[in-house]
This record gives sequence, structure tokens and C-alpha cells, in this order.
Amino acid sequence: MENETIYILAIESSCDDTAAAVLMNQKVISNVVATQKIHEQYGGVVPELASRAHQQNIVPVVHQALAIANIDKKLVSAIAFTRGPGLMGSLLVGTSFAKSLALGLNVPLIEVNHMQAHILAHFITDEENSISPEFPFLAMTISGGHTQIVLVKDYFEMEILGETLDDAVGEAFDKSAKILGLPYPGGPLIDKYAKLGDPHKFKFPKPKVDGLNFSFSGFKTSVLYFIQKAVKENPDFISENLNDICASIQYTIISILMDKLKKAVKQTGIKSVAIGGGVSANSGIRMALKDAEKNHGWFTYIPKFEYCTDNAAMIGIVGYLKYKQEFFSDQSITAQPRYRLSE
Ligand code: KG4
Ligand code: ZN
Repeated sequence: MENETIYILAIESSCDDTAAAVLMNQKVISNVVATQKIHEQYGGVVPELASRAHQQNIVPVVHQALAIANIDKKLVSAIAFTRGPGLMGSLLVGTSFAKSLALGLNVPLIEVNHMQAHILAHFITDEENSISPEFPFLAMTISGGHTQIVLVKDYFEMEILGETLDDAVGEAFDKSAKILGLPYPGGPLIDKYAKLGDPHKFKFPKPKVDGLNFSFSGFKTSVLYFIQKAVKENPDFISENLNDICASIQYTIISILMDKLKKAVKQTGIKSVAIGGGVSANSGIRMALKDAEKNHGWFTYIPKFEYCTDNAAMIGIVGYLKYKQEFFSDQSITAQPRYRLSE
């Protein structure tokens, strides 16, 4: 197996993106994502609609990934798929599809933990993205479904140091945006308006949570009460202050994340910090990490945007790393909606 070229076909369907990718060793040669637009009108992901859309999308998305990679499916060395965590109905579509495909092609099947994949995405080595963190490092996964700080000792040796006790950080962005009347997902819009506003114009309380855990549900409520009160006094308050409100919300959320990250660095003595998940696209967190690099001597790692949000390339890199160690699954494997990182 030493110098063999390994082709991994990877499938991701944990939430509302149907994705497939092909990797040639650690390099991504195709990465296709079908984002489900249907949820926009509901202001959040509707699980039942998500699984139906996965069923419609999965065959064309896998075909497209193979076509772009320009390889015949007979060349595929193994099928990697997201086993969890995620929505049961969504995971089931990817899991059963991957199992049948592996059976049909007579290749190994590799189950992947989605959270591990967000972290190991840093080991994808496309030309322009080939600096990977060295072990041990800290990883903060921040998205619409997750908020964790993880101590990464090795590829498959990870320890959760802290996580959210309620909402994920992406939800804090999206729910705040909804209160402001912005469409779903509102995170990128808050980021956009924040760039034009004053982050110190309005003050929002930061939650007091022990250790390295997070809580965002109280934050969302404080935004709601603040806006309700201000709009009662001035019905045009939101439109007149949108940039400053967004800048202040973003400033508070990012400082909550950075406070915990600084605490984790202090506690572990590890200054190598990687982030992943959709919220890594946020300009505020990117800037804060660059500042920490300059002012506190950290080494920071931010994946390319397409590997931050949900994608199958990150499932593929875990597939490759597991393939090398022959960590294969059999056909009795089932989806695991509450799959923990350390299981
Ligand atoms: O990783 P992802 O695509 O899916 C989940 O696993 O949730 O993350 C989506 C989340 C959404 O909450 C979205 O609002 C947020 O990432 N997001 C952002 C930005 N881009 C995406 N939040 C703040 N600023 C951004 N630029
Ligand atoms: Zn994710």
C-alpha cells in the first residue's frame, strides 16, 4: 500500500447540504455541494424537508463529483461517509447510499465523525493550502450546529475541553439576524453590515459560564429585549442603526469566543490554534486570530472557505487518513445522530 494512489469518494449529508468529493491522497480533486434553498423561507432547517432534498440530490451530486474528478468509479479505493452527528433523516440518506455504493463497488466503507472532519480538514494539502498544524493543537469548531474547543493530540485522539451548553454560535448569529428582520442564514449578513458599524455603540452582556464551556441562549434573549425596547421608542431604530447593531452583536460574540480560546491556550500551554465550521468565515474571528498571532505569539490555522462550511472534502480527508490505518466499517454500521467526538 506504500506508494499506491488512493482515491476516496466522500459523502456528507448531516444537515442541509448534500455534498460529495473525490480525493486523490490528501488532495481534493472535486468538491461538490448542493445547498438546500428550501429552508430559507422557514428561517431555519426543516429536518423532514432536508432528508427529502438529500434523496433528490445525492445521485446527481455524487455523479458530478466523479465527473469533475474525471475518474471512473472503478478506480475508487473506498467510500467515506458522515455517520454523525447530525439530523437522523439526513444522515440516513448518506449512510444507506454509501453502504450500497461500497457494496456495489466492492470497496471498503469508512465511517466519519463530522466534528472530527471539521478539524482534520486542516490536513487537506491542495497546493495553496498545504500548511497543516502540528500535534498537539487546539481546534475550535464554530458553526450553526456546533461550538467546541478540542485538544487534538493526534489524528484520532481528541479531547473536548469545552462546548456549548445550549445554542451553537452560528445560531447566535442567525437568531440575532432574525430579530433584526434579516433572512436566514443571517450570519454572513451580520458580518457584512458589521464592517460598516461601530462595535462599541451598543453593549450586550457576555454570559458567565464556567471553564471552557459556552452558552448563547441568554445572549439571543438579550438582543431580543434590547431591540423590542428600542423599537417601542423609535419604530425606525433598526433601519437607522443596522450597521452599529450588527457590529456590536458581532463584537460581543467574537469576544465570547476569543475569551474562551485565550483561556484554553493558557490552560494547556498550546499556542497552535485552528478553527473550522461556517462561522470561521466571519471577518471578526479571522481578524481576532491574526491579532493573537501578532500580539500573543499564536500560530493560527484557518481553512479555505469551501472547507469551513459543511462539505465532503473534509469527510474525504478523514477517509484517507483512516484508509491508511485500515479503519474500515462493515455493513452493520448505522447512522449516529448524537455521535460524540471522543467515541
Ligand atoms: O458549517 P456550516 O455551513 O453548517 C453547520 O454545520 O451549521 O455553518 C453555517 C453557519 C450558519 O449559522 C451561518 O450563519 C454561519 O455559519 N456563518 C457565518 C458567516 N458565514 C457563515 N456567521 C458569521 N459570519 C459569517 N461570515
Ligand atoms: Zn458542520
